[in-house]
Amino acid sequence: MTSTDPNLVSVTLNGRTIAATKGELIITAAERHGEYIPRFCYHERMDPVGMCRMCLVEVDTGRGPQLTPSCMVTVAPDMKIDTASPMVKQVQEGVLELLLANHPLDCPVCDKGGECPLQDQAFSHGPGESRFVEEKRHYEKPIAISDLVYLDRERCILCDRCTRFADEVAGDALIEFSSRGGNTQITTFPDEPFASYFSGNTVQICPVGALTAKPYRFKARPWDLEQNESTCTTCSVGCRTIVQSSRDQVLRYQGVDSAPVNWGWLCDKGRFGFESVNSDERLTTPMVRTSGGLVPTSWSAALGAVADLVRESIAAGGADSIAVVGGARGSNEDAFAWAQLAHDVIGTPNVYAQMGDGLPAAVLGLDRATIDDVASATTIVLLGPDLKEELPVLYLRIRDAAVKRGRHIIEFTPKPGGLTKHAWKTIGYEPGTQLAAVEAALADPAVAMQLAKGPVAIVAGRANLAETSTATVLALQAILAAVPSAKVLPALRRGNVVGALQVGVRPRPGGLDTTGVLQAAAAGRIECLVLLGADPLADFPDADLARRAIAGARRVIAVDTFLSASSLQADVVLAASAVGEKGGTTTNLEGRVTSLGRRVTATGTSRPDWMIASGIAGLLGTEFGYRSIADVTASIAARVESYANVTATAVASAPDGVLAAVPADLGPLVPPVLSLPDRNSYDFRLVVSRRLYDDAVSTRTSPSLAHLAGCMTVHVNPLDIERAGAHDGAEVRLSSARAGIIVTVESDATVLRGTVWVPFNQPGSTIGELIDCTAAVTDVRIENI
Ligand code: SF4
Ligand code: SF4
Ligand code: FES
Repeated sequence: MTSTDPNLVSVTLNGRTIAATKGELIITAAERHGEYIPRFCYHERMDPVGMCRMCLVEVDTGRGPQLTPSCMVTVAPDMKIDTASPMVKQVQEGVLELLLANHPLDCPVCDKGGECPLQDQAFSHGPGESRFVEEKRHYEKPIAISDLVYLDRERCILCDRCTRFADEVAGDALIEFSSRGGNTQITTFPDEPFASYFSGNTVQICPVGALTAKPYRFKARPWDLEQNESTCTTCSVGCRTIVQSSRDQVLRYQGVDSAPVNWGWLCDKGRFGFESVNSDERLTTPMVRTSGGLVPTSWSAALGAVADLVRESIAAGGADSIAVVGGARGSNEDAFAWAQLAHDVIGTPNVYAQMGDGLPAAVLGLDRATIDDVASATTIVLLGPDLKEELPVLYLRIRDAAVKRGRHIIEFTPKPGGLTKHAWKTIGYEPGTQLAAVEAALADPAVAMQLAKGPVAIVAGRANLAETSTATVLALQAILAAVPSAKVLPALRRGNVVGALQVGVRPRPGGLDTTGVLQAAAAGRIECLVLLGADPLADFPDADLARRAIAGARRVIAVDTFLSASSLQADVVLAASAVGEKGGTTTNLEGRVTSLGRRVTATGTSRPDWMIASGIAGLLGTEFGYRSIADVTASIAARVESYANVTATAVASAPDGVLAAVPADLGPLVPPVLSLPDRNSYDFRLVVSRRLYDDAVSTRTSPSLAHLAGCMTVHVNPLDIERAGAHDGAEVRLSSARAGIIVTVESDATVLRGTVWVPFNQPGSTIGELIDCTAAVTDVRIENI
């Protein structure tokens, strides 16, 4: 066969002539043409190491057939490959016999049994019996190498997949081989556990049962599991997953290799957070407030009570005295039905999906970058949160782009984060001075030259909850003015926040955003506040405003999966089903719409949010006519212009989802006005951002993750600690113009001088007490107590 395509080479595979791609490994070329070569160490998303020799094949390049590791050698013109010769079979049997010499025969009690590549390949390519009669090596089994992962060294076949993943993909080189020969084993460094946000991936890619995950150990056998594909909605990256259940209980999430999104990886919060779905604390029925507090009731009574509260509120203050905040937790269908209920049935413009921690919705109208656009851009500008903490798998993709593909990162940040060590340039700034930092960088000829080299992508989000979004928006606009062709990926964190905003959970003209709603509620102008999976008391950056708003709203309705601090104060609580219990679609930060898989029966009598909205609308005199979630998906496609191509059929037939168009109706990104206060007697500018694990209800109710939240400490540069008259580990009073809290000082050289950093929503004091969400920045002082 001859090919004129310069990218193809002609090779012979088991006597057949095939066209392989130049530079392609033999193992992948063979697989594409229907010949599966057994392997253990090879993984398509990591560099090959040729460690296990299971993939040996005979290759003849003109000098006679030679045994060649097919995962290490690329195709060459006229190469003759034999994957099934007697020699290859003999070698495969030999490799398996050697691997099994020390591998225990504990398949019946091994979590991997039934889905184990070693078991499968021993059966398909092994010798059938072993000549090894000596004692196998023994180790204590298993040992915990982290809070979430156990290692059984007897089962390890030393394939280097876990260690390569930790080092090469996650950048957390915390597991390594130690000792030599037959004693070689995986180990952690002394007193340093495998504390990686991505540790669960090593369990998934381990080709044997050497690594097992604490949340799944001994819960089910693979043949007992039922599964369907879905999307993780813990954050807005939208990693594709397989949700597995047994006996109507979600038991495991596995990553699916979605090429444009997650490459098979999940973060541990997304992977193990399913435990909260099974929590005993889940709301099982609706509740109404009586003189004795919240008591369970029937759905008809609860929905009737909601309809009455809505009617009373309209009668007392008009439709715009009703407000809905939240909506980023559910599906596109949930969000759309609630937007319809609020805007079209109730008639209020006050609806918003963000919780004071994002950017103006108009950012979603900018030329949107996909994750692939960002990863392939010549220059990646980071103007947002620490992606490792807030959007972990996006961090992996950008880390890969910088480390392996030579992309240049220019990072603007008030505190160095996970990508700082991979950045070509990191520009630290004090909160409020983003624009000056960007202007100074743009004036640097080296930066200007770098930005002119090729495509530029900007990842934009909120790096600091203790300042408004104003300075970040101004900085973003300055970069876009300098590089008009740059595309923007919005780094908004909440699961379906982009979907909720795009399908309508945003203010209509004259309406209020969440800050405006809470201010109006605190001033007594909100007759009815609907919390749609929102917990402002825990989640809104300004704790005082959230408290006054919940107290000031005359009626509060909560739609939630748990009783949170906020929903505990509601007049009616409607029990919502969680992800895994409902289908539909979700939209990730790129605008990619993927399906959600319904795997288990909803907890108690809980219902999906869209169904709750339909029920309320019906009682208020408007029938949506939705008989199933497919009707809502169709309604979105018909009524939301940017979702016109997002039909249920299109989503179902596209494994990587369908990109919704960039919405054209979000209005321009208006340059805001920044007015920075003087420091006065306050010494430090406050930076508050999230860590992956915090005190959120979904983490608190996942037993394996709950204890991973840190503690409330104020991080101060060591050179500033003395200036503040404190010392590392001291308890101090941290105060702003608003309030003071008692916290412990932690010396942290990554914190910029003149600033202090505090993690948001950690167990302990509430940093939100110090934050005024209307102030451009928050200045604080440290006092000894
Ligand atoms: S623990 Fe598993 S993934 Fe790691 S080297 Fe051993 S067999 Fe390979
Ligand atoms: S990065 Fe986000 S979407 Fe992906 S697994 Fe983690 S929490 Fe889920
Ligand atoms: S798969 Fe090729 S050497 Fe292991």
